[in-house]
Amino acid sequence: MFETLKEQPADKILMLMQAFKEDPREQKIDLGVGVYKDASGNTPIMRAIKTAEQQLWQAETTKSYTGLAGDPAFGDAMIRLVLGDAVPRANVAAAAQPGGTGAVRQGFDLIRQANPGARVFVSDPTWPNHLSILKHMGIEMVPYRYFDDDTRGVAFDAMLEDIGQARKGDVVLLHGCCHNPTGANLNITQWKEVVASLQKTGATPMIDIAYQGFGDGLEDDAAATRLIASSLPECLIAASCSKNFGIYRERTGILMAVSQDAGAQKLNQGTLNYLNRQNFSFPPDHGARLVTMILNDDALRADWQAEVEDMRKLMLTLREQLASELQRLSGSDRFGFIAQHRGMFSRLGATPEQVEKMRVDHGIYMVGDSRLNIAGLNKTSVPILAQAIVDAGV
Ligand code: LMR
Repeated sequence: MFETLKEQPADKILMLMQAFKEDPREQKIDLGVGVYKDASGNTPIMRAIKTAEQQLWQAETTKSYTGLAGDPAFGDAMIRLVLGDAVPRANVAAAAQPGGTGAVRQGFDLIRQANPGARVFVSDPTWPNHLSILKHMGIEMVPYRYFDDDTRGVAFDAMLEDIGQARKGDVVLLHGCCHNPTGANLNITQWKEVVASLQKTGATPMIDIAYQGFGDGLEDDAAATRLIASSLPECLIAASCSKNFGIYRERTGILMAVSQDAGAQKLNQGTLNYLNRQNFSFPPDHGARLVTMILNDDALRADWQAEVEDMRKLMLTLREQLASELQRLSGSDRFGFIAQHRGMFSRLGATPEQVEKMRVDHGIYMVGDSRLNIAGLNKTSVPILAQAIVDAGV
């Protein structure tokens, strides 16, 4: 029967990873997949993770199953990290997931369970895997305008107009911070208007927060998520630990369902447990345990926060260096948006042909929609990229 299978479309981001690996040029620059790199181009294991792993190796006495929703201590610690005290703990159901992607997928599954006819409103553009998973699951998606090609900022009026078309029973998927792929984000006044729109339409927000700590800091980056969770009757939150704990391959994430009261929480928790059991049974534990140890230990937490802050500042510095180099070479301010964007990515606004030219001529790899991973840069590659951008006529 397998002969009936059809070839699936390749994932753009993963394809780029492979193409970069196969490029023999020594001077090549990888600005593709969203993985943090330090100034030497390495993706280090964070100090607090290393220490927690050593402690865990000493202390762990069993590898038996945890709970269907993962270790409850992980849920508690992550709810605090993402939501602070914005909502009572008793109103939040949570289940550990295999990474942020697992959390997104499980969130869509919960939506389908609650309302098989739900439409999911997605920003245009959004992370390509959002679209691919929704398509795979047969869930209807409705794009909402998000990026202004001229200013490279958020096309906020258009966004508001489009999400205003959502109805009760629909879902509006939002990026909590550090929008992927554009790097353009709403300010808090605009988030309040989004809340007002959701209050008016009755649509349910789902927040994907995969880069907390990489934009304006751990607390500021959670502000929109907290505002939404505390202002609306219900919301879903898919949070990832891949980037801010640097544990990509451990597959560590969490799905939260926030409701008005503890009664609804019980039903939500039961559904999350059920979905885990149907899809993979118990979630992976290793990464989640390390995250819990770090968040619950003052010294480990302080060290982790300091390292996340260093990573964030390095990305900000690279943004400023690239923007000013481009200003120098182009003699114009039109690349100033790079310093305004936040998170790991910026959408440059180059055409696919210009992106291809940079790859062919300079060995610079960025996603075809001209998303570049700022963390893939360093002092040496910033001027090379800036020159390539200008040469390509962006
Ligand atoms: C990205 O957008 O590059 C990351 O989220 C990695 C991925 O899985 O696509």
